[in-house]
Amino acid sequence: MMLQSNEIFTLSIESSCDDTSAAILCNDIVLSNIVATQKIHEQYGGVVPELASRAHQQNIVAVVDVALKKAQISMSQLSAIAFTNGPGLMGSLLVGSSFAKTMSMGLNIPLIAVNHMQAHVAAHYIDNKPSFPFLCLTVSGGHTQIILVRDYLTMEVLGQTIDDAVGEAFDKAAKVMKLPYPGGPLIDKYAQEGDPLKYIFPMPAPNSLNYSFSGVKTAFLNFINKNVQTNEDFVAEELANICASYQNHLVNYLLKVFLMASQKHNIKVLCIAGGVSANSGLRKSMLQLQSEGYSTYIPKFEYCTDNAAMIGIVGYYKYLQHDFSEVSVMPYSRTGV
Ligand code: KG4
Ligand code: ZN
Repeated sequence: MMLQSNEIFTLSIESSCDDTSAAILCNDIVLSNIVATQKIHEQYGGVVPELASRAHQQNIVAVVDVALKKAQISMSQLSAIAFTNGPGLMGSLLVGSSFAKTMSMGLNIPLIAVNHMQAHVAAHYIDNKPSFPFLCLTVSGGHTQIILVRDYLTMEVLGQTIDDAVGEAFDKAAKVMKLPYPGGPLIDKYAQEGDPLKYIFPMPAPNSLNYSFSGVKTAFLNFINKNVQTNEDFVAEELANICASYQNHLVNYLLKVFLMASQKHNIKVLCIAGGVSANSGLRKSMLQLQSEGYSTYIPKFEYCTDNAAMIGIVGYYKYLQHDFSEVSVMPYSRTGV
C-alpha cells in the first residue's frame, strides 16, 4: 500500500444518527463538507432508527459524489477513507462503515475508524486550534461530556451525564410545548425574544463532574402542566419567556459543572462542541467568560452539529500516526472518546 506524504486527501463519512455527511480534506484543510439532513423524522417527534438507516442508504452515494465534485478531487487522488465507527445507531453506522470499507478495498487505500465523540472535540482543530491541554464540553442529542484533551488524539472523560443528554432536555421540553423535532434550535429561536429570568427552575446541586437531566426535564413538565391547568393558552402566550428561561437554566447548569472541572484541573482553556454548542445562549456565555480570564473556543456553526469534516480531521491525525483499521473492525453503539 502506497502512502503519499505531502498532500493527504481524506474522504470522510459520518452516518451515526440522522445526517448523512461526506467531506474531503487536504491535510487539515476542509475542501468540502456536505450534509444531507433527513427530514422524515420530524413527523415522528424523534429519530426512527430504521428510517434513518434506509435514508442513509438512499443518500450516501450522492453525498459522497457531491463532496468529491465540490472539492474537485477524483477518487484516484484519495489517500484514505475515514468513517464514524460509533457511538450511534447501529443500522445507520453500518451503512457508512460498509460504504467506507468497500471503497477502501476498491481503491486499496487505508481505512480509518473514527469515534464520533472524539470527532466532535476534534472539530476544534479545523480552524483556530486551542492550546493543549484544554477542556471540552461536548453537548449533543445523545451525549453530555466534559473531556480533558491532552493532545490531538489523547482525551479523557472527566464527567458525563448519568441519564439524559442536554440535547434531549431541549428536544423533550420542546415536545411538551408541541414544537416539532428537533426542538433545540426552535427553543433557541423563540428564546431570543424572551426574558431569561421570568421563570426560575430548580438548579441541581452537583457533587461531581457528572450531569443529570432527568430531574430538569420532569421539573419542566410539571411547570407546564401546572400552568396549563390555570390557563390553557399558557404556552402560546408565554412561549418566548418560557424558552428564554429554560434555555438560560440549561446553560447555567452546563457551565456550573464545566467551571468546576476547570477549577479542579486548573485549566482555563475551555471549548464547546456538539450540536447544542450551536445554541446562541451557550455561545454568548462562553464569550463572556473571556472577560474573566478564560480562553474560550466555539466551533464554526457548520462544525457543531453532525458533519463529516470533523471525522476527516481525526482521520488526518490518525493517518499521520499510521493508525489504520482492518476491514473486520465492527461498529459500536455505546459511548467513549
Ligand atoms: O451533535 P448533534 O448534531 O447530533 C448528535 O450527535 O446528537 O446534536 C443534535 C442535538 C439535538 O438535540 C438538537 O436539538 C441540538 O443538538 N441542537 C440545539 C441547537 N442546535 C442543535 N440545541 C439548542 N440550541 C440550538 N441552537
Ligand atoms: Zn454528534
